[in-house]
Amino acid sequence: MDRKRLLAEAAKARENSYCPHSGFAVGAALLCKDGEIFRGCNVENASYGVTNCAERTALFSAVANGRKRGDFAAIAVVGGPKDGELAASPPCGVCRQALSEFVDSETFVVLWATGADSYEEHTLAELLPYGFSL
Ligand code: THU
Repeated sequence: MDRKRLLAEAAKARENSYCPHSGFAVGAALLCKDGEIFRGCNVENASYGVTNCAERTALFSAVANGRKRGDFAAIAVVGGPKDGELAASPPCGVCRQALSEFVDSETFVVLWATGADSYEEHTLAELLPYGFSL
């Protein structure tokens, strides 16, 4: 897996962020096991709770385009103030749970940029121990 490329895809996705309310722009790139990448960005709303995070935008786009449970290998996330330096933005709890529905948490890799040329990496299981499943 080319981690730098996946982070670059997330940075491209971030360019489309709609974040007039928080000013915090986030992009995500979800990698399928066959190499296809789905991008997502945060999409905010004046009714704040309606906002969709970048990670779920990418996940829902993939599923809407026919991707299935088990198809995914990794996600990269890049975030920070819209016109400022990148800030570490690990996926929120809701996005962790949303991802857990579709991946093997023990092997699925989550990356987030911690600066222009650095990142942190964990499995989803490390980020969401005891996640709920049916
Ligand atoms: N946000 C994401 O896109 N992903 C996360 O995992 C956490 C937060 C977005 C939501 C909102 O538009 C902005 O960041 C500030 O919370």
